[in-house]
Amino acid sequence: MIKYQDHLKGVNAARLGGFFVGWLNPPNSAGHLKLLKGSDLAVLAVDGGRVVGFITAITDGVLAAYIPFLEVLPEYQGRGIGGQLVKRMLRMLGKAYMVDLLCDKELQQFYKKLNMFPATGMMIRNRRSQCGANIIRKK
Ligand SMILES: CC(C)(COP(=O)(O)OP(=O)(O)OC[C@H]1O[C@@H](n2cnc3c(N)ncnc32)[C@H](O)[C@@H]1OP(=O)(O)O)[C@@H](O)C(=O)NCCC(=O)NCCS
Repeated sequence: MIKYQDHLKGVNAARLGGFFVGWLNPPNSAGHLKLLKGSDLAVLAVDGGRVVGFITAITDGVLAAYIPFLEVLPEYQGRGIGGQLVKRMLRMLGKAYMVDLLCDKELQQFYKKLNMFPATGMMIRNRRSQCGANIIRKK
């Protein structure tokens, strides 16, 4: 049975794996764990101790939140887990004024069902930093 948790208790690098499908230079499991720890909020879908899906958010705690990552392991997709993760994260973000994310056009239908609407965005991607080797200094 899939369980959902909004904390990282019991999670270690060995319980993470198989994510960042299709990335050319993905972070390893230790980098993935670091990313989860460094996020303001995270919700995990867990199956028998194995993390099978995750969503993260970065927020200023006042007005704005950004959802950088949502992923469900391929063999667990199509079972409602992604939808659950988004719903649970949106519930945790409560009535934040802004909740933003970027996605490919074909995923807009998925997010529309979760009461989000399309917008236009801008971005930078430093492909060489994709594995997470360049640590970003926080204040
Ligand atoms: C997008 C993703 C998280 C969805 O997770 P999931 O567990 O398969 O989604 P769900 O089973 O909750 O699907 C919910 C609904 O969205 C639809 N949906 C799922 N993926 C979709 C896609 N790629 N395009 C269009 N609709 C999609 C499902 O058909 C389902 O519709 P229904 O409620 O009418 O049956 C998953 O496909 C994934 O991890 N993809 C790779 C990473 C990625 O693209 N992440 C998003 C970054 S913005």
